[in-house]
Amino acid sequence: KTLRFGMLPADGIGHEVLPPAQRVLEELSSRKTLPKLEFIPLNAGFEYFRRAGVALPDETIEVMKNDVDGAIFGSVSSPSHKVTGYSSPIVALRKHLDLYANIRPVSTVDGKVDMVTVRENTECLYIKKEELDTLGDGSKVARATRQITQNASERIGKLAFEIALKRDKVRQSQSQCSSPHTEPSVWSIHKSNVLSVTDGLFRESIKAAHKSDERFSKVKLVEQLVDSFVYRMFREPQLFDVCVAPNLYGDIISDGAAALVGSLGVVPSINANDTFAMAEPVHGSAPDIAGKNIANPIASIRSAALMIEHMGYSEAAAGIYRAVDEVLKGDKVTPDLGGKATTTDVEEAVLRAL
Ligand code: NAI
Ligand code: MG
Repeated sequence: KTLRFGMLPADGIGHEVLPPAQRVLEELSSRKTLPKLEFIPLNAGFEYFRRAGVALPDETIEVMKNDVDGAIFGSVSSPSHKVTGYSSPIVALRKHLDLYANIRPVSTVDGKVDMVTVRENTECLYIKKEELDTLGDGSKVARATRQITQNASERIGKLAFEIALKRDKVRQSQSQCSSPHTEPSVWSIHKSNVLSVTDGLFRESIKAAHKSDERFSKVKLVEQLVDSFVYRMFREPQLFDVCVAPNLYGDIISDGAAALVGSLGVVPSINANDTFAMAEPVHGSAPDIAGKNIANPIASIRSAALMIEHMGYSEAAAGIYRAVDEVLKGDKVTPDLGGKATTTDVEEAVLRAL
């Protein structure tokens, strides 16, 4: 079998950080840790929009839907002013492929942080049902609809428990494990003390997901209100293992969690459903450093590892995580981490550490 991956560098440093991820996967393939690989370059992004008039051509959507086993997305330079005809290709891809989960692990090599946010990716306030109205006194009022469904919440809950089990298994298999966790846990993040209907349904659904499978009883379920969660995440990040949250809270806490680990250049993510994962480094297109060969490729390399892990190639993924951790412990790091290494240097260091 040959695995086919769509490659969508999109804009800016996306073009610099995707090739290192590809080379790391190719190296594992050449050692038979992964099957044969094929990489299919695909168009998307703001630069492409300026040339072709669309940010996500139909052709790309077709290939992504029917022709690939996974994909890696770089980053888009979304303009901050409204540009007629333009809409974000990453948001569109999540929708087209029903990538209902956004999974973002953050960890530090000293073992102080080892958490992953599992964010519901399809609903909550991001259904974008907003309206502007005028009150009797002529002043404006804006309203937004927040949708929480039992199905989407249980679905994300089940995935969170699966991930907790998988992470526990990986920890058990390591002879030297720097993780602060001795047992798997899922933290259900909500605000059901105030929003008892919407967040109440999310909370109940996570509980139901916990009970839905005998295997999940091994995982501790902990409830945490979102505001105090943020406080505790910065004070005692070592507490948190898997954190599951509705879309908006998940968006905010996962960006916050990235702040625990030093640089955006090392934080990976995948957008996933049960059968497909699209890797995506958390950072943007970084126009300030684009084209200089100093972008940190680690977020992109780790994202590729998450993708293959989601596809079941846990051992290959573990090899990448180990290699990256080893590089991070040394001094061959890019300027965002205080080093002098180039993108290429880091790529080579990771390949050697593999
Ligand atoms: P950014 O993430 O591109 O950059 C923020 C800062 O972090 C910059 O100083 C940049 O140099 C640095 N940085 C980011 N990634 C790095 C890496 N791999 N290595 C070393 N340093 C790195 O965020 P910013 O500047 O707010 O946005 C720039 C553009 O990216 C905007 O057009 C924005 O819309 C877009 N963006 C796209 C995202 C995506 O594709 N998912 C996410 C965030 C922003
Ligand atoms: Mg965000």
